[in-house]
Amino acid sequence: MRRKIVAGNWKMNKDKNASIGLVQEILQSNKLFGCEVYISPAFPFLNEISNICESTPIKVIAQNVSEKDEGAYTGEVSLDMLKSVGVDGVIIGHSERRKIYGENDEVLRMKLDNCSKNDLEVFFCIGETLEMREKGKQNEVIENQLNSTLFDLTDFKLDNLVIAYEPVWAIGTGKNASSEQVQEIHQHIRALLNLRYGKISESIPIVYGGSLKPNNSKDIFSCPDVDGGLVGGASLNSQAFLDIISSI
Ligand code: 13P
Repeated sequence: MRRKIVAGNWKMNKDKNASIGLVQEILQSNKLFGCEVYISPAFPFLNEISNICESTPIKVIAQNVSEKDEGAYTGEVSLDMLKSVGVDGVIIGHSERRKIYGENDEVLRMKLDNCSKNDLEVFFCIGETLEMREKGKQNEVIENQLNSTLFDLTDFKLDNLVIAYEPVWAIGTGKNASSEQVQEIHQHIRALLNLRYGKISESIPIVYGGSLKPNNSKDIFSCPDVDGGLVGGASLNSQAFLDIISSI
């Protein structure tokens, strides 16, 4: 059986008090989660939030990491730094990083490789733009994104890998992909993973992200190739996030 996962990507939201407040609300709900739960606060609060989440079922992941190890890279945060504050994993290749900050395949490959070598869990994001979806090229885009990054690495530790399918047109737009669209592409991703890695790939979780809300998560999570979600906006509200978690 594959792991079930719900992760909250807080993006550049919530100051220190609000971040601490949000995680405390989630923990105070005292709910027994029916899946693995991750949260991804902003860099400055990772240390404190990791401490709060220690010995709880919630794991903490960073929204980004530098591809460099250390040195004169103003504004960057290294993998060792993240590990030293108790971070469990990293989101890599989010479409906002690719599009707004110009992260290309070479950079993504280096980040993936570094995380794998250092045993950090990776949420690797892939997904097509609206333009490509309208041209019916979503499968091709996904295939290219995987081929030029993850699949190009020889020794990636698959135990640490979660694939997040996030169609760019569904992120922050309130327009989620339908469960049929999600299932179709997740099945395609699974087939690609199978071609590249063989049977072992069956254990790699594939989660969906893009306007996931309590009123659509159950439907999407019920698809056979959907193993959970990467939630943006709705993860900023403890009740909405908990409702999404319980819908799995
Ligand atoms: P929204 O849930 O706000 O659409 O964001 C999804 C996302 O980008 C998660 O990484």
